[in-house]
Amino acid sequence: MIEKETTEKIEIEIKTKNDLNDQDQEVNKDNMSDQDKTMKGLGEKWPEPIIRVQSLAESNLTTVPDRFIKPPSQRPNETIAINHQPETAAINIPVIDLSSVLSGNQEDKERISEACREFGFFQVINHGVRPELMAAAREAWRSFFHLPVEAKEAYSNSPSTYEGYGSRLGVEKGALLDWNDYYFLNFLPLVLKDVNKWPSLPSNIREVVDEYGEELVKLGERLMRILSSNLGVNEEQLQEAFGGEDFGACMRVNYYPKCPRPELALGLSPHSDPGGITILLPDDQVAGLQVRHGDMWITVNALPNAFVVNLGDQMQILSNSIYKSSEHRVIVNSQKERVSLAFFYNPKSDIPIQPLEQLVSSTNPPLYPPMSYDQYRLFIRTHGPRGKSYVESHVSLVNG
Ligand code: OGA
Ligand code: NI
Repeated sequence: MIEKETTEKIEIEIKTKNDLNDQDQEVNKDNMSDQDKTMKGLGEKWPEPIIRVQSLAESNLTTVPDRFIKPPSQRPNETIAINHQPETAAINIPVIDLSSVLSGNQEDKERISEACREFGFFQVINHGVRPELMAAAREAWRSFFHLPVEAKEAYSNSPSTYEGYGSRLGVEKGALLDWNDYYFLNFLPLVLKDVNKWPSLPSNIREVVDEYGEELVKLGERLMRILSSNLGVNEEQLQEAFGGEDFGACMRVNYYPKCPRPELALGLSPHSDPGGITILLPDDQVAGLQVRHGDMWITVNALPNAFVVNLGDQMQILSNSIYKSSEHRVIVNSQKERVSLAFFYNPKSDIPIQPLEQLVSSTNPPLYPPMSYDQYRLFIRTHGPRGKSYVESHVSLVNG
């Protein structure tokens, strides 16, 4: 009976969504071009009032509002028992000892190379970031999300920069939503770092986040050299393509509240990260991140004190598709909330990014046309998470 009701609701939802899409297309004709949007940003307002997922989770609902119900084909086909792999996921993502790579172990370096070419995903241990700092950062953010909703509204974000406290990705009216709230902030370039846009509570949060950012920038730099060398080019090459010292760094802290119907919703819909390298600190208590491998979604079982590293679309573009950005999603559960910190190491945002010269030739033409990261990330900022559709459609027209 409950199932039947749900199905009917979904049909209505899908119909409404199509209607809205038609309207959107009408409106889009008069809208700013993507070029204008890059110059002027996406505007100061969301298309409709923001729903804080935390408020929904705390209102003792027995189901989730229609806006959070995914069509059947997109729902998680299995729910996870906390901290355990679902039966079907036998493969886990590779675990790599970074200190061993840095001290010259070729075998481990080769394993990173394979992971980048196949999955675009691996975990690193012995990465040089202190476990106490990792725990302190995670717990500071957990405390922030536990503040009353009103205390967080002061930092409410807008689509123009996404900085601050947010609850949606994408500005399409009527779009289906994901079961998370988040906080987005910039570390680099320094002109974009504005600690006044960071939370002031809990009292240690700015200091901890600042140090965390510095340490993750260093880890990002180390990974960049390894990834560059694994492409057979100079170890500084990728960093130079990122704009040298002018690269960017930002962070999205994800808060996934408990969800009364985890089998109908997603914490974060399938997407690849638009940027360079993502260094994720997952929740040490609750699994939820899944990586696509063929037709399977593999749940990541992160080791204690490990970071999960994944490549974004700019790495796929710069490597001319030798490296793959990874498609991933997050599932939620009804028993435990989940907090994760996604740190993004990105190219300077206004320079053209295209396959490295050394990797292209007449027989191996560039697969992607040059595009700035500012321009590129407008897609996800406008349309929200859409799998790997953008990087796939971005293939150079010159080559058919
Ligand atoms: C992201 C992301 C995964 C997670 O923020 O882009 O994929 O585990 N997060 O929260
Ligand atoms: Ni992601």
